[in-house]
Amino acid sequence: MNIKDSWLKNGFVSESVNKDTNIIDAIKELKEEKNAVIMAHYYQKDEIQDIADVVGDSLVLAQKAAETNADIILLSGVHFMGETAKILSPEKKVLVPDLNAGCSLADSCPADAFEKFIKQHPGHTVVSYVNTTAAVKALTDIVVTSTNAKAVIDSLPEDEKIIFGPDRNLGSYINSITGRNMILWDGACHVHEKFSLEKIVELKKQNPDAEILAHPECKKPLLTIADHVGSTASILKYSQKSSSKKFIVATESGILHQMQLSSPGKMFIPAPPNDSTCACNDCEYMKLNSLEKIYNTLLYEWPEIEVDEEIRVKAVKPIERMLDISKKYGL
Ligand code: 13P
Ligand code: SF4
Repeated sequence: MNIKDSWLKNGFVSESVNKDTNIIDAIKELKEEKNAVIMAHYYQKDEIQDIADVVGDSLVLAQKAAETNADIILLSGVHFMGETAKILSPEKKVLVPDLNAGCSLADSCPADAFEKFIKQHPGHTVVSYVNTTAAVKALTDIVVTSTNAKAVIDSLPEDEKIIFGPDRNLGSYINSITGRNMILWDGACHVHEKFSLEKIVELKKQNPDAEILAHPECKKPLLTIADHVGSTASILKYSQKSSSKKFIVATESGILHQMQLSSPGKMFIPAPPNDSTCACNDCEYMKLNSLEKIYNTLLYEWPEIEVDEEIRVKAVKPIERMLDISKKYGL
């Protein structure tokens, strides 16, 4: 049975790495041999971020995927990130460590239902968050990430009617900072919606010198009390520049690794979720990836992301529009 059939039948088995071989060295060797680049999102496990060639937010991962000279892109993140890389670089082999690494937010917006929603609002420009499937992007006029959403919306004429999907929290936040009245799809991320406002307020009382940093996928009351709201890249940058020594971080816990690495003298406290019995600020999809899976993925060049060419041709336009606007504003 080959590796692909075995994975499909039995799930992932880490049997390929020789016990005497250091897995990090083995990954580096394979990467060089195959002219591959490893790109990892900030929510990846620390050890994955440490071996990646690029660590970034959704925008940086898309930008780097569009410009790389590598033959293989191994995207350690979630499925839509691999798809975005493939849409932008169709001639390259795009691999992901685990095809089951999805996204609850992307899942909250099926393409057929989104298409009906668009038809109910004729004359509207369709703006979609990058956390969507390729099929949803193919229905979209401009894609945004949380880093460039404000710049993209500000670039549209003031009287332009806009549909925004799928994240209702990001959409409502962008409405509030741009003065727009975009019609919002009712989707959300299960990780960002689980933070407890009460516990965060209590934590702030105990740590009055701490600044609250929040991702715009969090609910409005939390965004209202945050000292800084922004994408993973934006809150990381803020933590580096701020004179504060303590931060309460309301987003997936993986970002704390880069924060701690770049500001070793500062303290980063993960914001508490509602349910104290779970590790709810871990995205279980992001955390499916591991060094062992990365090794096997490079070795067998599988799992590979494939995007239907008709969908890809439609989906690439709104992503390129986003990249052009980002470039114009130096993002
Ligand atoms: P960023 O683009 O801010 O990295 O966010 C991606 C994401 O999935 C947030 O949940
Ligand atoms: Fe999707 Fe939420 Fe995970 Fe981000 S944290 S990848 S939005 S499920």
